[in-house]
Amino acid sequence: MTAAQLQRLQPRVDLSRPDNSEYVKGRSFFVIALWHFIGSPIVRSNLIPVSRVKCNILHLFGAKIGRGVYAKPGLRVKFPWYLAVGDHCWLGEDVWIDNLAPVTIGANVCISQGAYLCTGNHDWSLPDMKLFRRPIVLNDGSWVGARATVCPGVTLGTGAIAAAGSVINKDIPAWEIWAGNPARFVRARRLAGASRPDMAPYSAART
Ligand SMILES: CC(C)(COP(=O)(O)OP(=O)(O)OC[C@H]1O[C@@H](n2cnc3c(N)ncnc32)[C@H](O)[C@@H]1OP(=O)(O)O)[C@@H](O)C(=O)NCCC(=O)NCCS
Repeated sequence: MTAAQLQRLQPRVDLSRPDNSEYVKGRSFFVIALWHFIGSPIVRSNLIPVSRVKCNILHLFGAKIGRGVYAKPGLRVKFPWYLAVGDHCWLGEDVWIDNLAPVTIGANVCISQGAYLCTGNHDWSLPDMKLFRRPIVLNDGSWVGARATVCPGVTLGTGAIAAAGSVINKDIPAWEIWAGNPARFVRARRLAGASRPDMAPYSAART
């Protein structure tokens, strides 16, 4: 067998017929089109800097939105029906919630400018790069820093912080600060007044 024939027998990446069977869009073509052409442009707009309008539109398209949520211009949401946001969250400028799968955000969560929440992934071992999805959970009081990337399946514990520009590919335990790419533990987060009973204890291993 010639080298050329051998070469042809090797498996190769072929994206001509992708396996998107896990890409469950969750709404009809009509609703998705309405979101794409009307809802999303309003939510993203710089011309309508009224957070309440944006939150109401997200809610209209199926998002669970708590009280006092502040949505800044440039917010991009893939599918609002896969989004839950708790009370008093801040969603910063140009935040991209790429939620092919559910993204669940607790109360008092801050997501800073340009952060990217990525729920989609590909099986790189398959020639067709089969798509799969994993949810993201940001628990109460956590903070995703500016331009940080949160990878599929990641959970930020209560009060956890992902530093600016970090790439978070593992869960961050409660009350820990992680930074870098890939993100690593930096220090425990100490809140003033942390003796209050509603504050979770710090991780003993980290203090
Ligand atoms: C994570 C953060 C809160 C840490 O603050 P801090 O507790 O004062 O931490 P320090 O600056 O003392 O840094 C501690 C260590 O983490 C490192 N570090 C801090 N932030 C980092 C980052 N974004 N990326 C990589 N490493 C970082 C520091 O270099 C330092 O490392 P060293 O101990 O080896 O010197 C802060 O750096 C950050 O990223 N804030 C987010 C800013 C942001 O998103 N703003 C938008 C809203 S306006």
